[in-house]
Amino acid sequence: MRTYFDMSIEPASILGRRVAVMGFGAQGRAHALNLRDSGVEVVVGLRRESSSRGACQELGLPVQTPARAASSSDVVVMLVPDQAQPDLYRETLAESMKEGSALVFAHGYSIHFKHIDPRADLDVLMVAPLGIGDQVRALYEAGRGVPALLALHQNASGEARDLGLGYAWANGHGRAGIFETTFRDETETDLFAEQAVLCGGLTHLISAAFDTLVDAGYPEELAYFGCLHEVKLIADLVHQRGIAGMRKSISSTAEFGDYSRGPRIINEESRHAMREILEEVRDGRFDRELSAEAETGFPALREGRSAAQAHPIEAVGERLRAMMPWLSEK
Ligand SMILES: NC(=O)c1ccc[n+]([C@@H]2O[C@H](COP(=O)([O-])OP(=O)(O)OC[C@H]3O[C@@H](n4cnc5c(N)ncnc54)[C@H](OP(=O)(O)O)[C@@H]3O)[C@@H](O)[C@H]2O)c1
Repeated sequence: MRTYFDMSIEPASILGRRVAVMGFGAQGRAHALNLRDSGVEVVVGLRRESSSRGACQELGLPVQTPARAASSSDVVVMLVPDQAQPDLYRETLAESMKEGSALVFAHGYSIHFKHIDPRADLDVLMVAPLGIGDQVRALYEAGRGVPALLALHQNASGEARDLGLGYAWANGHGRAGIFETTFRDETETDLFAEQAVLCGGLTHLISAAFDTLVDAGYPEELAYFGCLHEVKLIADLVHQRGIAGMRKSISSTAEFGDYSRGPRIINEESRHAMREILEEVRDGRFDRELSAEAETGFPALREGRSAAQAHPIEAVGERLRAMMPWLSEK
């Protein structure tokens, strides 16, 4: 993949442009502060009733309504939830964005699944951080950065790539690496990874293993520590050293169990399910299901949340984490 670093980026492509950051949530806060600290003129676009207005003002960030912020800026960054983006574009940005300005996304969902059909005069690009908002900000402040994916959807000005690289530079991504991809590949791999591994796979693996131990008569505390608490230790090692590197830090007993038992958990049936899940992402079935869910007020999401909250792993976890309050410190 084509990869860029700070040394090959011309910051002038972003300096001197006014950037309107739509939303002040996980990513919005990090991008607004990082860009501001990199010398970019930033305004935050928030609804009149937004509870984030005070926080922005305390941090010295100017706030305007989304329409005013967009109409006075050269770049608009879409950092509201993916499901809110189509209405924000259709009802506000489509008519308020300046002629020839740029629309930047942090995830390709709305464009790839055609929920937004941007005006032809706009540059439309993506700078997708490979990390949560807190990391994007904390690593920037530490002089480091999270890597990011860059993609172009419309290059009306012919300068969209330079702008995307400048934006990524200002957000600290050029310190780690900026990988050029497409909206399609970013969206499909991101959805698949969160469904198969990061969210769907991991949480169900943990809960099922916890249930197995508790059903067999073991104390919930032991099941919690073994199947949930210690995930972080292994995840940190995998993150820092890769899977083979992690295995160098575990006992031979654990490593033997890994090779001999792991394939019974992730077996041909699991791999078949992964291929099906990927196909549902690629052929649009997942997007249609999510859109129908959103239109009806997220009933399945609410049901899933209640069921998960009622699972015994939550009560024991709350009790054990209260004994280690430093776990929730940032
Ligand atoms: N979460 C991550 O770490 C992460 C990682 C990589 C990429 N991304 C991508 O980054 C983008 C933003 O995600 P996020 O998780 O940062 O969003 P988020 O935290 O859920 O965004 C919350 C912000 O969006 C505003 N907002 C919510 N609904 C709105 C609406 N209908 N109209 C206008 N503003 C609205 C909220 O304003 P109020 O104050 O008015 O409620 C709030 O300021 C998404 O495309 C996501 O896929 C996120």
